[in-house]
Amino acid sequence: MNYENLLVEIKEKIAVVKINRPDKLNALNAATMDELKNVFTELNADESVYVIILTGGGEKAFVAGADISELNKLDMISGKEFSEKGQEVFNIIENSVKPVIAAVNGFALGGGCEIALACHIRLASENAKFGQPEVNLGIIPGYGGTQRLSRLINSGRAIEYILTGDMIDASEAFRIGLVNHVYKQSELIDKALEMAQKIISKGQNAVRAAIKAVNIVDEVPGKEGQNFEASLFAICCGTEDFKEGTKAFLEKRKPKFTNT
Ligand code: COA
Repeated sequence: MNYENLLVEIKEKIAVVKINRPDKLNALNAATMDELKNVFTELNADESVYVIILTGGGEKAFVAGADISELNKLDMISGKEFSEKGQEVFNIIENSVKPVIAAVNGFALGGGCEIALACHIRLASENAKFGQPEVNLGIIPGYGGTQRLSRLINSGRAIEYILTGDMIDASEAFRIGLVNHVYKQSELIDKALEMAQKIISKGQNAVRAAIKAVNIVDEVPGKEGQNFEASLFAICCGTEDFKEGTKAFLEKRKPKFTNT
């Protein structure tokens, strides 16, 4: 996989995708968005990859938002296309059956906050700063941020950040549930790899079923969600991993999952 704005490394079932435009604080231009769409589609189809870590190049930013030099050219027609295209890319990330861990290593603003929100788990470094500063530019978040931020930290909190454009530092992000953990910047990637390895040690059928079940929470009413959960549970019960997991417990040994 060769990309202009991404660095992709696959090792021991973990793909690390680094958005790499550090001189522009990893701002998401159209080319980077196309590459993100391609890389997440490819990694989802790649049998050798179990977990994906998304991070930013350099030490200052995860992603400082959509590229404002491109934003500035939008009109009403192209603006709608721009928003829908970005939403499509971030939906691919959210709907990835391989867990996606955001390792937020600095500014995560605008589209940077929105891409982190589309990931399944968010880990942050102490210097991370989140925010939706689009109002400063006369626009609103357009890559799913109004929806995902409101669901994650509740709409009462989200509306304040979206209306003021205020930044949220790492400790506040942790307090309000925007990130799962905060680490020293020097430890962030190791901690993300550690979490990825833990997930890899589980049965991957169950991991992927869990993502599908949780992802549907906001899409369907409770009973329909429970029906979906029951169907996924049933599918898991038909796997070799289920037989092995339960047998290993009863035999007081570690399971050897084959992901079948
Ligand atoms: N789009 C395009 N370029 C961006 C960018 C973005 N979203 N964010 C940063 N950059 C560029 C800057 O223009 C600058 O480029 P230059 O060196 O060619 O002039 C470079 O990245 C470094 O940014 P700079 O602003 O000098 O760094 P800083 O430490 O002073 O400030 C931020 C950091 C993140 C506070 C500031 O860059 C910022 O506010 N960025 C925009 C954030 C935003 O509004 N995002 C939402 C977009 S919808």
